[in-house]
Order: sequence, then structure tokens, then C-alpha cells
Amino acid sequence: MIELKHIFKWYNVGGTKTFVLKDINLRIEQGEFISIMGPSGSGKSTLLHILGNLDTPDEGTYHFLEEDVYALKSRKRAELFQSRVGFVFQSYHLIDELTVYENIETPLIYKNISGSERRAIVGDMLDRFGIVGKKDLFPNQLSGGQQQIVGIARALAGSPNLILADEPTGNLNSQQGEDVMKLFKQLNEEGVTIVQVTHSEKNAEYGNRIINLLDGQLKKD
Ligand SMILES: Nc1ncnc2c1ncn2[C@@H]1O[C@H](COP(=O)(O)OP(=O)(O)O)[C@@H](O)[C@H]1O
Ligand SMILES: [Mg+2]
Repeated sequence: MIELKHIFKWYNVGGTKTFVLKDINLRIEQGEFISIMGPSGSGKSTLLHILGNLDTPDEGTYHFLEEDVYALKSRKRAELFQSRVGFVFQSYHLIDELTVYENIETPLIYKNISGSERRAIVGDMLDRFGIVGKKDLFPNQLSGGQQQIVGIARALAGSPNLILADEPTGNLNSQQGEDVMKLFKQLNEEGVTIVQVTHSEKNAEYGNRIINLLDGQLKKD
């Protein structure tokens, strides 16, 4: 499903190249559930953003579903990812001007799903995550944990084939965190590929493979 070859990412800081990712080579098969671990600043978010086409490397190739991603024109490339990938952001990235309901609905509008079907899907998500009572609130009226739940609901609403989740349980209490991991496991058993960044050994155990990043390099695969 995913193949990264010789991926490099760097920033020019004060005239010197600072590497964030160094020669990343990685294959991910459809149906895997992968946990990326590593210290803060090791490049985990950058790698996940590249996988989700939210960032581009300075060197290297990326094949997603057999497509040579960087050979595609930007519109084709966006289409390839938009309908198939659900991204859970470390910092939620909810739209402040939209209610909880509207935030969850947004990816479905991009997917051209009809109004009645959208209502059914959003209703199901609100139910599933126990946030029906919050549907008309705006993100700034929610706690960090609640915003994270909404971010997860939004990522799942479009029935993606690939879920990319950046520390999805970082702001949840232990019960909520466990519920989210069980849900991921269930989705994975239904065929959804999952790549999560986590600091928790316990959460990493829900997956079938752990990838360790250190100073922008893969340590063990
Ligand atoms: N725009 C930027 N300019 C310079 N350095 C950056 C920029 N964005 C990220 N970095 C650096 O890239 C490194 C990796 O960041 P990140 O992928 O967020 O790590 P992690 O998610 O593992 O904590 C960090 O050292 C960070 O400071
Ligand atoms: Mg990060």
C-alpha cells in the first residue's frame, strides 16, 4: 500500500541543513496496524504528514496504492489521498467557526455524499463517541480531550482505507484512550490500515508492528 524510498527532509536553519528525516525506507502493507515510537523531535509527525500528503520530502520517492505520488499533478495527488485517508492531528486542527456536527461533516461534503446520508453518518459518529450532547458546540467550548474525540470522529466519518493518527490518545483519560485503541483494533480487523504515533507501550501493543525513529532515522523495523 505504501512504499517510501530514500526519503530525506531538512530545514535550513541559520545557513546549515538540519535533517529531520534521513534516508527513510519503509513498506507498509494493506491491513497492517503500525505504531511509530521515538523521542520528541525525532521526526514522527513529519513522517506521518508525508504519508498523508500533508508535507513533502526534499528527496526520495513515495508510492501510495501503486501510484508514484510525486509524479502526479497536485490535483490528482490531492484526490488520491482525500477520499482514502483519515488523519487525526496531534493538535486537533478543528475548524473554529464550525460546530462539532459541522466539523465531523466536512470530509463527507468533500466526498460528495448526499445530505441524508451525511446526517446518518454524522449521527452515528456522535453516538459512537458519546458526544451527541455536544453537537452544536464550537471547538473552543470543549476540553482538549473532547476536541481530540471530535478529531477522531471526523477522521473516521469518511470510511478511510488508511488512518494516520498522531498521538490520538495524548489528551484522553485512560478509559477514553482504551476505547479509541479498541475501536482502531476493530477497524483494523475490518481491513482498515492504521499508522499511529504513540508514546505508550500499551497502545503500541494494539498494533502488529512497531517502528522506532531516532534522530530522523528508522531504528528497527
Ligand atoms: N519549519 C521548521 N523549521 C525548522 N525545523 C523544523 C520545522 N518543523 C519541524 N522542525 C523540526 O523537525 C524535527 C522533527 O519534528 P517532528 O516531526 O514534529 O517530531 P516529533 O513528532 O517526533 O516530535 C524537530 O526537531 C523540529 O524542531
Ligand atoms: Mg509530533
